[in-house]
Amino acid sequence: MNNPIRVAVQRHFEAPKLFRMGGAMTGGVALELGCGRGVGAELILQCFSAARVDGFDLDPRMVVLARQRLRQHREARFWVGDATAIPARDGHYDAVFDFGILHHVPEWRAAIVEVRRVLAPGGRFYAEEVLAPAVWLSRHFLKHPQTDRFDAAGFEAALAQAGLTPVARADLGRSFAWFVATRPAAV
Ligand SMILES: C[S@@+](CC[C@H](N)C(=O)[O-])C[C@H]1O[C@@H](n2cnc3c(N)ncnc32)[C@H](O)[C@@H]1O
Repeated sequence: MNNPIRVAVQRHFEAPKLFRMGGAMTGGVALELGCGRGVGAELILQCFSAARVDGFDLDPRMVVLARQRLRQHREARFWVGDATAIPARDGHYDAVFDFGILHHVPEWRAAIVEVRRVLAPGGRFYAEEVLAPAVWLSRHFLKHPQTDRFDAAGFEAALAQAGLTPVARADLGRSFAWFVATRPAAV
């Protein structure tokens, strides 16, 4: 899913939608799960006003492309990694972004638990996701895990179960949804 149409949709539709739902970061450190070729990281700096962004992807070729794309940005760094085992200390990030990756992850609930762990108290998780019916419909031309996929309510329930508080959700039919959740501030 790394093509010019995807870039345009991400830039002109998905990032603005998540911005309207969750607002800017105004500084702070962000993490992008499954960064692909770095378009999301660019938007996190430009639109969400993160001071720094880290990103990782399971596919080393994507990490090379992301590094090339953001080579002028010393505030961006990328590595090869897995969303179910994020190499960051607890509470390190002010925001975590998921631009359509968790439907690729068999153990997506474990990844959400990791998101909760690396978010600072009061930090935000922004996610746009492809839901079970669209994963099933696209099975002949896109490679996605087919078992234990989520619908919007199931994703939101997993956020809550991991200790994140859902604050906004938007659905596009039963196929796509956008979520913003926060890690509750420490008391
Ligand atoms: C549909 S692409 C989305 C890429 C990018 N976020 C975008 O919006 O264009 C999904 C990406 O997730 C990556 N990915 C899949 N499983 C992953 C995992 N467990 N951890 C990190 N990245 C993963 C894939 O390599 C791929 O680059």
